[in-house]
Amino acid sequence: MKDLKVAFYVTGGIAVYKSISLMREFIKMGADVQVAMTPSATEFVSPLTFQVLSKHAVHIDTFSEEDPHYVQHIHLADWADVSIVAPATANTIAKLANGMADNFVTSALLATVSPIFLVPAMNEHMLEHPATQKNIETLRNRHHYVMEPETGFLAEGYSGKGRFPETEAIIEALEGFLMEFRENLPLKGKKVVVTAGGTKERIDPVRFISNDSSGKMGHALAEAAWSAGAEVTLITVSDLPSRKQINRIQIDSAAQMYEAVNQAFQEIDVLIMAAAVSDYAPLKVEEHKMKKQNQLTIELKKNPDILKEMGKKKTKQFLIGFAAETENIETYALKKLTEKNADLIVANDVGKKDRGFNSNHNEVTIYSDINQPVTIKLSKKAEIAQSIIEILIERLE
Ligand code: PMT
Repeated sequence: MKDLKVAFYVTGGIAVYKSISLMREFIKMGADVQVAMTPSATEFVSPLTFQVLSKHAVHIDTFSEEDPHYVQHIHLADWADVSIVAPATANTIAKLANGMADNFVTSALLATVSPIFLVPAMNEHMLEHPATQKNIETLRNRHHYVMEPETGFLAEGYSGKGRFPETEAIIEALEGFLMEFRENLPLKGKKVVVTAGGTKERIDPVRFISNDSSGKMGHALAEAAWSAGAEVTLITVSDLPSRKQINRIQIDSAAQMYEAVNQAFQEIDVLIMAAAVSDYAPLKVEEHKMKKQNQLTIELKKNPDILKEMGKKKTKQFLIGFAAETENIETYALKKLTEKNADLIVANDVGKKDRGFNSNHNEVTIYSDINQPVTIKLSKKAEIAQSIIEILIERLE
């Protein structure tokens, strides 16, 4: 559970009070938990309880879009590594089984692609009703994990099946589910190195030459490769965050990036060079801050072409390079494909303001050594990264 991003959905049954201890346990184990409640759930326990414990505002109303940068229910769905519905009522189970999206919880869950884990809790007769059983079966066929409720004393005052299980039993089932989920992911067992950001080439202790790369594209690729089950090393210049499960190597210069890539290369299956590597570095790095002069000439030396060098060395490794161009995109991209011995070149137009360097969006055409080019229209870098990883998965198959 450590560092896991958990979307915790609470729906309206008497077991809501038990989901508080479950959520606290997740937090104690190091998970980052965001809660969403159905309006009925708020009748049982105040959202404030969940807010105070999770240290996040609780999502209830689909239309109270307070932050104009995001559509909240989609943002929560995309953010989560796992979604837990606890307790899951017969009503919410029925809505999910039938693809309904009539409140914040059901809308977010319909937009969720990461694993969904449900903890049903309800009256025994509601649970055994053929409609509920059929809905549970539908969700299980969709690879959601639906826990078996426990048998015991129910809120109605008699004994039966439908109780919310003990916290330890839920955590054990969840850990097993998450393990199995990652085992079956398409890049399971693959080692992927991604580079990100614009390298910094030192002039003196306080100055460097660099470019506008933010690292967003590379970080999105590292995240997408991790979500597809790969063991990911991210060699980055950027100070953007990355999840703890990604092995992060922080570097500055092209020489350091070369060193880190080269050291990992023999052991890896895939290299993705999204970094904007400076082609040149100052020949000499001044020991002290340079003093003002009327004119200054800095002599530059050529940096190693990391992708090209790895292209020469490659045996089993699959190489994905980028081509940052402002004109003749196809010609230059195809030239890079052959000259650098890459398997894919992802070409982007870096002459436009709404994409490429330092934007949240990009539009790319992927050139391959064997297939026709594929264009991914202007979209978020996370979506572009997902599409690139899907093409990678197809190629590795
Ligand atoms: O970081 P962002 O703000 O999100 O922006 C993303 C991006 C625009 C930086 C990214 O999409 C991108 O295009 N990255 C590659 C930038 C680049 O250096 O392109 P290039 O055409 O100059 O280089 C071709 C390929 O060779 C690239 O894969 C590059 O990483 C690699 N290269 C280049 C020079 C060098 N010395 N060594 C290299 O390995």
